[in-house]
Amino acid sequence: MCGIFGYIGKKNASEVILEGLKRLEYRGYDSWGIAVKGSPNLVVDKHVGKIGSAKTELPKSTVGIGHTRWATHGGVTEANAHPHLDCTKQVAVMHNGIVENFQTLKAELIKKGHKFSSETDTEVITHLIEENLKTKGFASSVRDAFNKLKGLNAVIALYAKSSEIIAAKNGSPLVVGLGKNDELFIASDAAGILKHTKKVIFLEDSQMVILGKQIKLFSLPNGQPIQPRTHTLTWTFEEAEKGKFKHFLLKEIYEQPHVLENIALNYDGSTKELAGLIDKAFGTFMLGCGTASYAALAGTYLFSSIAKKHVNFSIGSEFKYQEDYLTKKSLVVPISQSGETIDVIEPIGQAKKKGAKIAAIVNVLGSTLYRQADFKILLEAGPEKAVVATKSFIAMVAVLILTAYALAKKQMMGKELLLKAAENVKQILKQNYLQEIIKLADQLRNSEHVFVIGRGISYAAAMEAALKMKETSLLHAEGFAGGELKHGVIALIEKGTPCLVMAPHDETYDDVISNAQELKARGAFIIGIGPKANKVFDAFLQTADLKEATMISQILIAQLLAYYLALARKIEDPDKPRNLAKSVTVK
Ligand code: F6R
Repeated sequence: MCGIFGYIGKKNASEVILEGLKRLEYRGYDSWGIAVKGSPNLVVDKHVGKIGSAKTELPKSTVGIGHTRWATHGGVTEANAHPHLDCTKQVAVMHNGIVENFQTLKAELIKKGHKFSSETDTEVITHLIEENLKTKGFASSVRDAFNKLKGLNAVIALYAKSSEIIAAKNGSPLVVGLGKNDELFIASDAAGILKHTKKVIFLEDSQMVILGKQIKLFSLPNGQPIQPRTHTLTWTFEEAEKGKFKHFLLKEIYEQPHVLENIALNYDGSTKELAGLIDKAFGTFMLGCGTASYAALAGTYLFSSIAKKHVNFSIGSEFKYQEDYLTKKSLVVPISQSGETIDVIEPIGQAKKKGAKIAAIVNVLGSTLYRQADFKILLEAGPEKAVVATKSFIAMVAVLILTAYALAKKQMMGKELLLKAAENVKQILKQNYLQEIIKLADQLRNSEHVFVIGRGISYAAAMEAALKMKETSLLHAEGFAGGELKHGVIALIEKGTPCLVMAPHDETYDDVISNAQELKARGAFIIGIGPKANKVFDAFLQTADLKEATMISQILIAQLLAYYLALARKIEDPDKPRNLAKSVTVK
């Protein structure tokens, strides 16, 4: 969602910021803006739409802030784009999050004579700072304004009479980067500043930072000074670039063999530890949103079949309504690529209050989830910049497979499966196999619907495959448990309706083939995905027989089909599907 990027240094601030904002584009946005400190006033540039090849005409400056906005309060207009200026045009504010009490604050400020020029919640922050500046310095004014905000917010402010950037956060992420030659950066995520530095400080909730000649960190609400802790990022800049690939999505799909091998070879210790926690817990609850929720759902089948262990599953946004029975003995396993998804972060906060232990599976080092968890497994899938999740999902499933095998005390078997899966993924990514997928994508490109069925762990695979197609190719797709079709959805099947059938070589095979027969009898075009051919299939995309890890190859095929369908359907940018944001930090 919204992206924040601030810079202090000897280079031309607006150029560094524009480039930084481009690196944050993947988070999703619909308008953008930059403010730099001119002399003597602030100078602002705001636009609706994508940055594209835009250049800013702002004057040279050594300090400035930038923002990409994903609209929440108020439409996508230039006036609503950030920064927002106060009545005197001396203060510029950018913000990520939602100011829950903005209406009350706005009414009070209007009574005091402030004039608003946007429909945003953000603008109240600017006027609050303006009001405070009548009696206080810049830092105290930002602090006291921030303390009045309700909700989960990250705020960054610039003042015409100061050469400092001040930021405060509670909920939404902010990372400070320490560059060469006293350069300082601040951004909503580390991928934005990786080009400049790997030395970072992750801002904690209820902290405020002043970036100037040096970095000063304070706790909120009182403003007690605290010592900053520096971390070194493990990602490389190249990992966050497209390289030879046309889209991040394809690049990230191609990184999956490496992701699998890394987990197979290096995660013995961490997955054993997680298995131990699950074993000891009195109730384990896995949760995630979207794609990550399908990894969690797959987890329930994996732990049942491999380790004979019951684990519960919930999508993140529903978990808070089920938390009444959590106790100190419960274990909650949030699964998330970004580690910032609000619908996961929020219930985790509540679970912690009840004393439950949190064991997170997360991709982003230093993310909110990473910092909140008692135990964490970092997925090490590298930066995922396509909005559509691919390699992070494969990494989540791989970690769950290895953990389930560790719990069953058969970890070697889990490792071997993952290495075999990596080999199969490499085979599928070869040209001759890709041609089959491209041909099928061409055949399906004008379809109205696609249905995907699976049973057992393949039910989770079916859900994820359908989501990939929906968001990447904007083709309506639905995933179902094979047995459910007869209970309603089969009414939608017509002559030629494409149906993907996830058919691994396991106890679900015969039943899902029967479901395929039922679909075929109503005219469906059946596309089988799995190791074993069957006469019912009109098209067949073969995977190796990888037991539980067959899901990995099935999902790879679905990812590729979704990508090539997007190209066949001339979708503008498969890396950034319309209306979506990479990191969903608002409810
Ligand atoms: C789909 C997708 C989303 C995310 C979901 C959770 O391709 O990317 O469904 O999986 O928004 O995000 P994280 O994993 O960052 O918590």
